[in-house]
Amino acid sequence: MYLEILLATSCTALTLVSFKLYIKVTTGLCKSQVCLKGKTALITGANTGIGYETALDFAKRGARVILACRDEKRARQACNQIMKETNNTDVVYKLVDLASFKSVRKFAEDVNNTEERLDILVNNAGAGRLGNQRTEDDLPIILQINYFSHFLLTNLLLDLLKKNPSRIVNVSAIGAKLGNIDIKTLTVYKGDSDQYITSKLCQILFTIELSSRLQNTNVTSYSLHPGVIKTEIFRNLEAWKRRLILFLIEIFYKTAPEGAQTQIYCAIENGLEKYSGQHFHDCKVVSRYKSARDPELAKAVWEESERIVGLTR
Ligand SMILES: NC(=O)c1ccc[n+]([C@@H]2O[C@H](COP(=O)([O-])OP(=O)(O)OC[C@H]3O[C@@H](n4cnc5c(N)ncnc54)[C@H](OP(=O)(O)O)[C@@H]3O)[C@@H](O)[C@H]2O)c1
Repeated sequence: MYLEILLATSCTALTLVSFKLYIKVTTGLCKSQVCLKGKTALITGANTGIGYETALDFAKRGARVILACRDEKRARQACNQIMKETNNTDVVYKLVDLASFKSVRKFAEDVNNTEERLDILVNNAGAGRLGNQRTEDDLPIILQINYFSHFLLTNLLLDLLKKNPSRIVNVSAIGAKLGNIDIKTLTVYKGDSDQYITSKLCQILFTIELSSRLQNTNVTSYSLHPGVIKTEIFRNLEAWKRRLILFLIEIFYKTAPEGAQTQIYCAIENGLEKYSGQHFHDCKVVSRYKSARDPELAKAVWEESERIVGLTR
């Protein structure tokens, strides 16, 4: 009996250690030495999590970095911390609330009026578990923050992006695999998980259609799953669930600097232009999720998004 318990415990421990090793070995790292002096990068949701780590990396490489954040205090703290750590003084924050199209339009106008160039746009900000709240634009809040506002922001910044070879990086999630979009009910709230999954599938479909519309320009776009990462994204879960998930992630999954690697890679690695429109995971192109393989769906989501955000170009 004692021997059986010992054997079972050893097997469990071995499986867990092997799993941890597998995750560590397969975690993609961006090894690029690219210098970003003279370039400008804008990251949404850059005050914490993988957005912060992405901004920190770009600042280390010498870029002018714009942190697009909604909370002034948190934005200022992040900005100061990045400048202190990198000695790069060209790091600024600008305020935007992605739950409001008015705020996105004001923010984009400010960027267009004050920036001479934009080389990298990382649509990173995201939220989950906000319940059935609707925004002032009468949209489900998660869908608007995670997708519609990024769609609007990107379109409003396109002319600036086109001034130089540039990249647009859309942060998605592997949960998009489970998505199943029906255009007619796109903005109907069917639960937090559904909202999150739909928003992340929209980010991929947006990337596909965007890259096709940007053919023959010097702008390319990429979507990605960053991995499972210990960040504040789980902040709205019940306390016990949050603690359990963070504990498990701490043991088995990625740290924020590891989680930022794929979006940094998509933004700066040389020679990725031929993969425009593709989806990445662990710094590698991966095949499109089944849920994102229909180009007609990508087109339909684009057209519906234009209507919803009120884009008339
Ligand atoms: N962590 C994971 O395991 C995981 C897995 C797959 C995909 N992702 C994706 O990775 C991206 C980054 O998430 P993270 O894990 O780094 O989470 P995080 O630590 O919670 O960071 C999310 C960022 O988004 C910002 N944000 C939220 N609502 C906003 C709004 N209305 N307007 C402007 N900014 C807003 C947050 O600002 P405040 O701090 O002010 O709230 C924060 O800066 C998200 O798109 C997420 O869906 C994460």
